[in-house]
Amino acid sequence: MCGIVGYVGKKEASPVLIHGLSKLEYRGYDSAGVAIIEDNLLKVTKCKGRLANLEAKLNENPIHGAVGIGHTRWATHGEPSDLNSHPHSNEDETISVVHNGIIENYLQLREWLSAKGYKFMSETDTEVIPHLVDYYYKGNLEEAVMKAITKMEGSYAIGVVSTHEPGKLVAVRKDSPLIVGLGKDEFFIASDIPAILNYTRDIYLLNDKEFVVINEDGIKLLTEDGDEIKKDVFHVTWNADAAEKGGYEHFMIKEIHEQPKAIKDTMTSRIVLGKPIALDKITITKEQLANIDRVYIVACGTAYHAGIVGKYAIEKLARIPVEVDIASEFRYRNPIMNEKTLMIVVSQSGETADTLAALREAKKYGARVLAITNVVGSSVSREADDVLYTWAGPEIAVASTKAYTTQLIAMYILALYFADCKGTLSTDEIESIKAEMLKLPEKCEEVLKHKEVLQKFASKNFMHKDMFFLGRGLDYAVAMEGSLKLKEISYIHSEAYAAGELKHGTIALIEKGTVVIALATQEELFEKMLSNVKEVKTRGANVLAFAFEGNETVEKTVDSALYIPKTAEILAPVLSVVPLQLLAYYIAVQKGCDVDKPRNLAKSVTVE
Ligand code: G6P
Repeated sequence: MCGIVGYVGKKEASPVLIHGLSKLEYRGYDSAGVAIIEDNLLKVTKCKGRLANLEAKLNENPIHGAVGIGHTRWATHGEPSDLNSHPHSNEDETISVVHNGIIENYLQLREWLSAKGYKFMSETDTEVIPHLVDYYYKGNLEEAVMKAITKMEGSYAIGVVSTHEPGKLVAVRKDSPLIVGLGKDEFFIASDIPAILNYTRDIYLLNDKEFVVINEDGIKLLTEDGDEIKKDVFHVTWNADAAEKGGYEHFMIKEIHEQPKAIKDTMTSRIVLGKPIALDKITITKEQLANIDRVYIVACGTAYHAGIVGKYAIEKLARIPVEVDIASEFRYRNPIMNEKTLMIVVSQSGETADTLAALREAKKYGARVLAITNVVGSSVSREADDVLYTWAGPEIAVASTKAYTTQLIAMYILALYFADCKGTLSTDEIESIKAEMLKLPEKCEEVLKHKEVLQKFASKNFMHKDMFFLGRGLDYAVAMEGSLKLKEISYIHSEAYAAGELKHGTIALIEKGTVVIALATQEELFEKMLSNVKEVKTRGANVLAFAFEGNETVEKTVDSALYIPKTAEILAPVLSVVPLQLLAYYIAVQKGCDVDKPRNLAKSVTVE
């Protein structure tokens, strides 16, 4: 997500900010900018694209000053553009703000401020902040920021500078990261430690709603009520490389652990109990939906697997027939499409060539296209009629994890919205699924605690050449994703099979010691699944099973079992995929594979 840096000291701020931002590039970004106070004037330079573009602009027109803030933006509200880039300022350019996070009530605040005469230049949620600070400014910057945050809902880490108090930097955080660097006669703020490691290893770790006020007299930490706080200095001992991964060994494991937050963010403001499902700017109406007689979900790789779960969810909840297609196959099979067709394309990057080609094909036939993507301003998002963004944040590891779980959430949101429009579920039924969805982040945290069983299994079985993943119904869909994860990063051959189909051929491959991963979360199919597991057990398979807590009877049939917290069966994939991701990860680590950059694979495949 976005990266923030800030500097108050005796050096030129510009190169310090640029260096800091370069160390935050790993977080992913699409534009960058700085605001520096030069001779009591606020000078802002910002632009779309790489940091090198910003650097070139600054080389052409240097800004001299020792107080400044910088930002790399990863678009959420408003496409990547010069105008939407941070910092954002008030109208008379006396206050400038960088922000990481999402201001959930920004539309209300925008209206409220507009009514007071404030003018908005960008499409961002962030722009409400400099106006709010301006509104509350009565001669003390930290007091104005303190008042501003009482109006703001959502997540934020913000840095604020102002020509009213040119030597001062005020920063605060809530649910978005922010640290403070303590140098000799100089201070820093940053989203993450690597941004400041060049200058200092002594930092303060800020808690939610803690303020830092830096000026020529030094540094103060304050509560939201303005009371001073004392904090221990944290001394960083690790190197920059480890710090970028937040202390994790690989981006993949970091991203696996980011899933509870990514799931929560993707539901934010869309799934609220007692309120209708909010689909951002999606314009498909009840009438148009009533006219849709067929849905195609088209995608590649992991996104295709999310599509299979989407099919189950939309068919079960909204009773609309859905076909799921691999994008590279779809366009060459002469699919039946017309204006009664809804195509849902799913793509983390929004740039996958096959998916984009399928989207264009559908548009040729007059079909309506709705995109689920993680990248604002991507080709898919620009060419689709409607977009539902996953808010997973940038995914860096090639093997997709948090993008998948957030794509599942997007699918459930759509399925519930369709069900509501079509009246296939009662309000009570919809509310009960929503309530279960809202519990998923916490349950996902629970699943992440059960690593030992998986680590043990990985260390005993990493030398195998083949593995099988079995499941029925939604468990089969998750089995496919588990199998793909294992193949991608550990190079072990694996196959996902619909458990009931195995006996029609593939069971011939099962012999003593063959590893079988069995998923058994679907209550209705539980007994049938156990019978299929027995079929492989009696042929010598070594079975690891995943089931809901409370179904411990599974242990009588299998060699080892792992339990996930109970949720609505339709939502089980969000939780059951997590141990499969971890299993693939631990096996790949045991084998010494390059987990984040597996051989022959690319994160974004822009060729057909
Ligand atoms: C590549 C990546 C996969 C990804 C697939 C689709 O193959 O290695 O991890 O699932 O592309 O990518 P998309 O960005 O369209 O979701």
